[in-house]
Amino acid sequence: MNKTILLLLATLTPLAISACTLLKRENTSPSTLKEAFEGRFAIGATIGKAMLQDDNHPSLLIAKQHFIALTAENAFKWAVINPSPGQYNFTAPDQFVGFGKNNGIQLVGHVLFWHSQTPDWVFEDLQGNPLDRDALLGRMRERAKMLATRYGDSIKVWDVVNEAINDDGSLRNSKFNQIIGDDFIEQAFRIAKDEFPKDSIFLYNDYSMTKPGRQSAVISMVNDFKARNIKIDGIGMQGHWSMETPTIIEIEKSLQAFSETQIPIHITELDLDYLGRSQFFGANVDIETLPATLENNPFPDGNFPPTADKRLAERYGQIFSALLKYSDNIERVTFWGINDSDSWLNDWPIKGRTNYPLLFNHNGQPKAALESLLKHVSQVLAPKEPSPIATH
Ligand code: XIL
Repeated sequence: MNKTILLLLATLTPLAISACTLLKRENTSPSTLKEAFEGRFAIGATIGKAMLQDDNHPSLLIAKQHFIALTAENAFKWAVINPSPGQYNFTAPDQFVGFGKNNGIQLVGHVLFWHSQTPDWVFEDLQGNPLDRDALLGRMRERAKMLATRYGDSIKVWDVVNEAINDDGSLRNSKFNQIIGDDFIEQAFRIAKDEFPKDSIFLYNDYSMTKPGRQSAVISMVNDFKARNIKIDGIGMQGHWSMETPTIIEIEKSLQAFSETQIPIHITELDLDYLGRSQFFGANVDIETLPATLENNPFPDGNFPPTADKRLAERYGQIFSALLKYSDNIERVTFWGINDSDSWLNDWPIKGRTNYPLLFNHNGQPKAALESLLKHVSQVLAPKEPSPIATH
């Protein structure tokens, strides 16, 4: 080869490679969720008990591949970590923190104060009589101190109070409220601020946040806390949604309304109950569950029909289009579980039915919903910053 040809080749080859890379970028969807939503919001999932007990659990591999934020499904709840006075179960939360640290994953603490999965002893003295306000506030402080001392440096984001407001905007009548009074939520956030490191992020978290009553109560509370300098850093919309409810318009309206508070939104517990909840809307764990029947458990063997799979994929696509519109205000979107077998919706509100709410099926294989999100994102998203290639 003479020198001119060599020179030409040397000049053209990098150009050809850049052109191919450009074509590839334009035609190929990202292969993981974390790649797909990079620069938009953190994408997360929950880690349940079975995963913490088995290093080879298939969902752990998916967690490492796809997610950059993880929440422990139950490990930090009061009844799990501290079931009776002086008895602590740190194995699962320690494993959760270890897994996050080893894999460079951000961790979310769920949940400091919630009326559910909190044992009765918390509200009673040694004789079984109800505690008074100061004594209960003292117990809450002890719990916050314990969690902050052990995990405060590893876990930055905490759901401080969960589900303390009703659909109509009134306060839930829980033991916390009965004993402490209507300022229970405020006191919980004050305790968290006193006990946790300064750079912690504190959320108020709830379901049915598209319901106007609950929504406006949460917004008023956030504005009031901000005005009185009570630290609150984010709004957690759980997102236990169904195929028809809430509508995309309701979701967008809520995202708009919460954005106006100017504190970030976290979608904390996303899943889609494909099989539906005919009797109610929301995610109140206190309701009485019903047994599985042939009617309410139509696909008991784990085989999800392709038409159903497609419908689920479409609904996820529409939901993520709405979330992406508000990505400047959304900090994180977390799925409640990784594969369909992990999901709490196999047991709630119908006990023992086989549900299909997530992006990976009962065998941990990607569903149409995953493919659709990855593809959809690459089509919907114009790059936020001009890419270095485009500017040349
Ligand atoms: C659920 C867990 O997924 C189940 O394993 C447990 O039995 C009950 O709680 N809202 C919340 C979560 O904030 O903590 C709940 O998690 C689901 C509803």
